[in-house]
Amino acid sequence: MKLAIYNAQGYDKEYFDRENLRVGHELCYLDFHLDADTLKLAESCEAICVFVNDQVDADLLAAMSRLGIRFLLLRSAGFNHVDIKAAEAQQIPVANVPEYSPNAVAEHATALILSLIRKLARAHARVREGNFSLEGLMGYDLHGKTVGIVGTGRIGSVMARIMTGFGCRVLGHDPAPSDPCRELGVDYVDLPSLFRAADIISLHCPLTPDSLHMIDAKAVALMKPGVCVINTGRGALIDTRAIIDGIKSGKIGYLGLDVYEEEEGMFFEDCSDRIIQDDVFARLLTFPNVEITGHQAFFTREAMVNIARITLENASALEASGTCQNLVLPKPVV
Ligand code: NAI
Repeated sequence: MKLAIYNAQGYDKEYFDRENLRVGHELCYLDFHLDADTLKLAESCEAICVFVNDQVDADLLAAMSRLGIRFLLLRSAGFNHVDIKAAEAQQIPVANVPEYSPNAVAEHATALILSLIRKLARAHARVREGNFSLEGLMGYDLHGKTVGIVGTGRIGSVMARIMTGFGCRVLGHDPAPSDPCRELGVDYVDLPSLFRAADIISLHCPLTPDSLHMIDAKAVALMKPGVCVINTGRGALIDTRAIIDGIKSGKIGYLGLDVYEEEEGMFFEDCSDRIIQDDVFARLLTFPNVEITGHQAFFTREAMVNIARITLENASALEASGTCQNLVLPKPVV
């Protein structure tokens, strides 16, 4: 199958080329975003492949259908950037990579927690300046703390296992609690109870209309003073202005973000020569107790191998049978 791979970075090319040796699809790499104009370049392709930073809305899907594009392949687990209902209406099957490395994301969330509570970024900057004073660098033990995990699916359950290994008490909140997590000792509670009890809160649920801004001013008000909040899920799980108010008041002790609600057009790009226009993001960068990474939690060698392999397997299955085991279906209306 001929596949247009949008927003292809050097690392995408490396891993897709390597995995494609086994399956032999025709891969056309495009190093820019998918939009109404760039879509025309995929005219002769049967499938389009996008990452999380391309918004695929109803208009774009209609244009794809007119162009004869048969399939949409996501090289991500999350699919909140695609209008799945519109894809179904256009009869364009959408396939994702539901599990490529839950370890990668959970380990990154853990790295953010440790870096924040042990002030590693500040310590590193000081030592480089020849300043070996410990003033202001006191941290706290993770052992014995209460960690609240919101969403205990693939990534959240790995996170629960890691946090249990540190000797933490783990609270979970999930509309579909997991038996393996329960066996691990995770106590499931409602969201307000989790916010009230947790020393550290880590978000691992998808972004849906229900979870949009699940951390807002009301949620922040419930939290323990000095709480550490980690978001490696999706940016808009947090109302950024509300959490900034929480940091300014001292309620939020630490904030670790790998995702940001307005990350589109900024993350995954080298913007170092540009002036940041987003004042809310610029404010976040001023706090000593905030650490931000640019959506890199997934980014390990192991995850890249799996993303490339599973995306190409999805392409092969769709080409052969019109369907595949990783189809993303619209949520049934209840
Ligand atoms: P998953 O589908 O295995 O687990 C998600 C869990 O969240 C499920 O158990 C579900 O029942 C639960 N859930 C749904 N709505 C909820 C709500 N309102 N409150 C609490 N729990 C809720 O997904 P997985 O693989 O664990 O990924 C989780 C999210 O992590 C993805 O949706 C994606 O947004 C994000 N992600 C971020 C990456 C990064 O690089 N930063 C990489 C991969 C995923």
